[in-house]
Amino acid sequence: MSKREAPELERLHVRIAHSGLCSRRAAEKLIQEARVEVNDEVIVELGHKVGPEDVVKVDGITIKEAKLYTLLFHKPAGVVTTLFDPQNRPTIKGYLPNYGVQLKPVGRLDKDTDGLLIVTNDGELALRVTHPRYGLEKEYQVIVKGYPQEKDIDKLRKGIFIEGGKTQPAHVEFGFVDDRKETTSFRMTIKEGRKRQVRLMCEAIGHPVVKLTRIRIGPFLLKGLSPGECRLMGKQDLDKLRKLVGLDV
Ligand code: URA
Repeated sequence: MSKREAPELERLHVRIAHSGLCSRRAAEKLIQEARVEVNDEVIVELGHKVGPEDVVKVDGITIKEAKLYTLLFHKPAGVVTTLFDPQNRPTIKGYLPNYGVQLKPVGRLDKDTDGLLIVTNDGELALRVTHPRYGLEKEYQVIVKGYPQEKDIDKLRKGIFIEGGKTQPAHVEFGFVDDRKETTSFRMTIKEGRKRQVRLMCEAIGHPVVKLTRIRIGPFLLKGLSPGECRLMGKQDLDKLRKLVGLDV
């Protein structure tokens, strides 16, 4: 093999992941389960490399390199983070552009939470963005009932017991009090993504959430996106995100 040809080769599990079918890890499993053929020959060797002319099939179906789309989306409150809802509530699907691929949410926001959500058909990227190993920061604007004291806010900072165990330390910037509405607002940044985490943490200090908005994921801000609006990530943003989760750019 000449040096000039080498860059065109890629590992089989990477080719499968690039089709958008699944993550690299899941593609390795498909290979080990003898469900993958290259040019009609079953391949179970994980290091196997393929070139652009090789025909790859999974379960007998030829895979194609999918065009990958990743978007920043402002999920409005009242919309469920799913593509289909058996109860017929409004879903994020109604807001997403139709690129002829299946865009999926990366993580979730509660129905009543609004704010930033990443949506993509890149299975590998989605898996990594939600993986605790990469610990992407998520920042929330939180409005709670009543007037939590500094000692309560400190409990959020240090970690507090909720369903599923103690939370990791959170960064909380004390905000302002609205005497008329009898609420307090502050910003909280966490790296975990446990179900209803912010709401449960605030309930645990006796101050339930009245309004919750995710305003940042890693370096990406909600600012500039109106509720229901999406923005396709350009190369610069995408490279930044891929780097943060340990993918090649
Ligand atoms: N924490 C919550 O409680 N809800 C969300 O939607 C996101 C984080």
